[in-house]
Amino acid sequence: MRPSTFISFCLSIATIPNAYSQSTTDPTKRAELALSALQIWYNAGTGLWNTCGWWNSANVLTMIGNFAKRDSNPQLQDLAKRIFANTIVQAPANNPQPGVEDESTSKRDVQGSGYNKSISQDGEYVTEFPENWAASSAYVDVKDLPFMKAGQDGTPVSAAAVPQASAWLDGFYDDDLWWALGWIGAYDVTKNMEYLQLAEGIFMAVTKAWPTGCGNGGIWWSWEKNYANAIANELFLSTAAHLANRAENKDFYVDWAQKELQWFLSSGMINDRGTINDGLNDDCKNNNQTTWSYNQGVILGGLVELNRAAPDPSHLQLASRIAKAAIAELSDDKGVIHDKCGPYCGGDASQFKGIFARNLQLLHEAAPDDAYVKCIQANADSIWANDRDDGNRLSIDWAGPFIAPANASTHSSAMDALVAAITVK
Ligand SMILES: *[C@@H]1O[C@H](CO)[C@@H](O)[C@H](O)[C@H]1NC(C)=O
Ligand SMILES: *[C@@H]1O[C@H](CO)[C@@H](O)[C@H](O)[C@H]1NC(C)=O
Ligand SMILES: *[C@@H]1O[C@H](CO)[C@@H](O)[C@H](O)[C@H]1NC(C)=O
Repeated sequence: MRPSTFISFCLSIATIPNAYSQSTTDPTKRAELALSALQIWYNAGTGLWNTCGWWNSANVLTMIGNFAKRDSNPQLQDLAKRIFANTIVQAPANNPQPGVEDESTSKRDVQGSGYNKSISQDGEYVTEFPENWAASSAYVDVKDLPFMKAGQDGTPVSAAAVPQASAWLDGFYDDDLWWALGWIGAYDVTKNMEYLQLAEGIFMAVTKAWPTGCGNGGIWWSWEKNYANAIANELFLSTAAHLANRAENKDFYVDWAQKELQWFLSSGMINDRGTINDGLNDDCKNNNQTTWSYNQGVILGGLVELNRAAPDPSHLQLASRIAKAAIAELSDDKGVIHDKCGPYCGGDASQFKGIFARNLQLLHEAAPDDAYVKCIQANADSIWANDRDDGNRLSIDWAGPFIAPANASTHSSAMDALVAAITVK
């Protein structure tokens, strides 16, 4: 893979020698250095990050939006806007399974797509991509793109060029909603209505996955309608709640968020310890599968946004209960978060811990608590000290040592913790 020249003209801090970066204790500087390193994976031709999956790229986008909300560095602001403007037009061509949610698509065609997400015997998520899928596409430098040549300087693309919401759907509702959240973040940074409208369109499409066969509510995980899991439903809550605070039709989104929360609470997915298992079994009971870190995270951001849209003290109380139970259950004795699969997690679980850190930070902003500060700082410090190579690339095990190779998933996930640390310093 060729290194991106984007690094040099967008974030010249990339040239800071590593001896200096070693001693950097400023959380903002650390995240900026890590962002420079991340650029080797951004492929302007696909609008995605090479070496990670389709839904992972939505999370990279979200992390960058989050970062841009917390650091006014003009190079970062410029970079974030260019990435949004490019990804929104390029990425849908690489949707690994477009059209499957359309009832008229024949299932035979769909099974031929080669995209499949499943859960292994030991409860791990496994994603298979079609042959020659985008993650290893030939590198295209951002300078070759039409919008760069036109010298538009990161200006939002015109409405006509933005693909429809349907182009982002791939039959897995969690994937769809990760993108919706990514575009909401892009809207927050740019106030570009096209990003918000895209997120609304994706959400509307996913409402068709309601209800499951359990308790007459909730959304299915996928078009196959055979699993009701925590992640898709937490994302549905969070997306609805985020939209309630941004889109015109506030009551509509508050209603969906409240309906989802009510269903979620009665589903039994939250266990006796206060953490959240993976999903429900065929009898609509908690399946006692892995308490993945991201499932303790997404709901926190959802509850914070719902509380903002429709205040109710029970929302933040619930969030605090889950956050503290998760910190207790997932931290090692140095306070570093681990998923059960660690350190050799697959390309899905490699993204999870950052999602927890990102959402814990949102909870801390709404309801500050020393326990969250301690957790975020312990993880960010450990990543910087123990989980980084001399190119400032960040790997899978936040406790260290660095496990080569890092990729866009492990790196962006760790960056979520570095970005979270910016606001708790
Ligand atoms: C997806 O993978 C699972 C597990 O390997 C398999 O049972 C299922 O049939 C696959 N689905 C498709 C559509 O290929
Ligand atoms: C659920 O899983 C945990 C940890 O894997 C185990 O200790 C516990 O006994 C299980 N509970 C039930 C009800 O199966
Ligand atoms: C990214 O790294 C993780 C953790 O080491 C690994 O499991 C995953 O397969 C890698 N992804 C790709 C696409 O190589």
